[in-house]
Amino acid sequence: MSRVALRFPRKAKALLYGNILLSFCTGVVWFALHRWGKVEGEFGTEFNPLEPWLLKIHGASAFLAMMGFGYLLATHVHVGWRSRRSRRLGMTLVGTVALLMLSGYLLYYSAGEDFRSAVSWVHLGLGVSLPLTLGTHVWLGHRRR
Ligand code: HEM
Ligand code: HEM
Repeated sequence: MSRVALRFPRKAKALLYGNILLSFCTGVVWFALHRWGKVEGEFGTEFNPLEPWLLKIHGASAFLAMMGFGYLLATHVHVGWRSRRSRRLGMTLVGTVALLMLSGYLLYYSAGEDFRSAVSWVHLGLGVSLPLTLGTHVWLGHRRR
């Protein structure tokens, strides 16, 4: 059981990586279009019409990834902690995901331009760092095996 919780079956890994990748790409492409992808519309310069679609896909894939995260908390994190390996980077990952969830929530519900803009930068920074932290965690975990 503990081995299974530490190392995932191929399909579970593909699902987790796929959802994280989709959240990552939709978030980054949204950011690029929002900054540099404005279009000329009937009433002058407008935001790109793809933006709302990207955020819809982003929200959906992020929530699916969070279901995977909940499963990992009850299995992988529990067993990983007891194995005493990869604790620091593992907990950094848990913290990053928790802050992504909190900042995602605040993006959705907070009012006030300045505060929302600050949260948006924090969310983007955490999101961009996620594949790097996860990649290093997996790589070091395999090396220390
Ligand atoms: C959001 C939190 C986490 C995620 C998404 C995550 C994800 C992963 C993934 C995808 C692997 C590679 C598994 C494989 O190739 O089959 C891995 C390996 C590993 N993780 Fe985590 N992890 C997380 C948190 C933690 C924590 C908190 C710990 C320890 C306290 C931990 C300990 C380990 C260990 C020891 C391995 C190596 C397993 C082995 O190859 O024998 N992880 N993790
Ligand atoms: C994987 C890396 C991620 C990146 C690069 C990323 C990036 C972004 C960006 C750029 C935005 C738009 C910010 C704005 O409106 O100012 C956004 C919105 C959002 N993100 Fe993420 N994000 C990531 C992961 C996540 C995760 C794990 C969650 C889980 C809760 C999440 C939840 C949300 C929510 C709820 C919104 C607001 C959607 C809306 O306004 O309709 N994101 N994200």
